[in-house]
Amino acid sequence: MTHKYSVRRVVGSLVLAASTSTLAAPGPEGADFGDFWSPGKPNPALCKSPILVGTPLGLPRCLEASNVMRRLNQLQDIATLNDGNRAAGLPGYQASLDYVKKTLERAGYQVRVQPFPFTAYFPKGPGTLQALAPQPASYVWEEDFNYLSQTDPGDVSAPVVAVDLALGAGNASTSGCEVEDFAGFPSGAIALVQRGSCNFEVKAENAAAAGAAGVIIFNQGNTEDRKGLENVTLGDTYEGGIPVLFATYDNGVAWSQTAGLQLHLVADVIREKTQTFNLVAETRRGNPKNVVMAGAHLDSVFEGPGINDNGSGSAALLEMAVLLSKAHPQNKVRFAWWGAEESGLVGSTFYVNSLSETERQRIKAYLNFDMIGSPNFGNFIYDGDGSSFGLQGPPGSAAIERLFEAYFKLRGEPFEGTQIDFRSDYAQFFELGIPFGGLFTGAEDIKSEEQAQKYGGAAGQPFDPCYHQGCDNTANIDLNALEINGDAMAFATSWLSLSTKVIDDEIAAAAKAAEGATTLRQQSVRQAERWGNHYIK
Ligand code: BES
Ligand code: ZN
Repeated sequence: MTHKYSVRRVVGSLVLAASTSTLAAPGPEGADFGDFWSPGKPNPALCKSPILVGTPLGLPRCLEASNVMRRLNQLQDIATLNDGNRAAGLPGYQASLDYVKKTLERAGYQVRVQPFPFTAYFPKGPGTLQALAPQPASYVWEEDFNYLSQTDPGDVSAPVVAVDLALGAGNASTSGCEVEDFAGFPSGAIALVQRGSCNFEVKAENAAAAGAAGVIIFNQGNTEDRKGLENVTLGDTYEGGIPVLFATYDNGVAWSQTAGLQLHLVADVIREKTQTFNLVAETRRGNPKNVVMAGAHLDSVFEGPGINDNGSGSAALLEMAVLLSKAHPQNKVRFAWWGAEESGLVGSTFYVNSLSETERQRIKAYLNFDMIGSPNFGNFIYDGDGSSFGLQGPPGSAAIERLFEAYFKLRGEPFEGTQIDFRSDYAQFFELGIPFGGLFTGAEDIKSEEQAQKYGGAAGQPFDPCYHQGCDNTANIDLNALEINGDAMAFATSWLSLSTKVIDDEIAAAAKAAEGATTLRQQSVRQAERWGNHYIK
């Protein structure tokens, strides 16, 4: 009995704290909540209670990193049995989907499998690049050149024609961005194009439209960090139909200065229009007109098992869904495991575009979990209020950011904002104006001295040294990162499952401000009508 009382009190004071964002980090007396809530020790009584398990402090308490890790081991086994990956369009993805689906069904969920079209792309073997004239030469795969992801296959021997290059430090190359760049381009030649200004797809499709048989895009060379080889992509929608290789700046410059150059290039890849799937499930309980969504992409890249990216988000979400299956949320909680994120956010984009206006309006929040166990982690919260990076999320996103912050503060754990850069599945929710937020523990970016002080770990090293590589396996997970970020996920999801007031209030305030702006505008128009025509005309 006393337990219930304390839940109400604790939750009540947290509502206050999150809505005013004055929640202080707990001091030594921070163990106020007592052993019942304290993380670390299992508490089966709490986790079996349908009321308590679904509360903002109960759910994180019941979501244990060791259980999330068990699920990650399952995903690792799936990858190991399926050519080492779980990439969309391949058996490892199908097996991952089946695993999540079965687990959810066993917990009592009705699971919706949503098919959608996408273009599967897999490199089959290394590419070839040789000079045939004026001097024979061979170039080294993954040193001099690589594939642009989503290139079409092809085998081409042809003269090379440079397209509107702008060489040198500080250049502002627009090579290949305009159709006119290809005026007089000889059909059947290989286009030598420089990176810069517009995206790769535009350059390659312009070349294809001008009759090019193949394209080499070399790095821009405007700065030192844009000279080497990089893994870049044409995007899922590339329709050039010709092979496209990426090369280093120095090679590009040398080729552009070689008279009579003929190259032989081969792209040994598979590219195929096919379909893959999202998986969606929701709590039986809760108001269907007030939906809180939480999502994670389930696919990996082709290069590895994708245990941190994004087995971590997927497994934590699955564990949370199982725990919530017996809970009593006020709002419906909808879980999504996205397909083909790594092919360009394809699954989440399809889902969002397939919503009716009514369905869209019912989604009060979208929470994204992509990479939450990075081995050299930082605790990053999407910068919903724009306070760290300028770009704000739709109204309501600041409240979501505050909710996550409140939990990190409560646990006395450090955190910081991370830029809304559209590199994960929240992008389309943002476009539709749905409030969003989420967590991330870092990828290829380098940890600073300051961040190493804050979180521990190694300065000067990437947050995830195995990002998009074969070594993104179960050894590539920090259990503490998984624990604290899984708990923060559970806290925010549970919170919003009980009430979206913090979001509703922020939306109402934004609408009021916009209305105020309209009123001002109307006033000035009226004023202009009254006085004004003399002044404006
Ligand atoms: N997990 C990453 C997202 C990510 C990586 C966010 C690094 C921030 C920093 C995601 O799976 C991914 O790799 N996204 C692609 C973009 C997407 C549109 C294909 C990326 O960032 O290259
Ligand atoms: Zn990812």
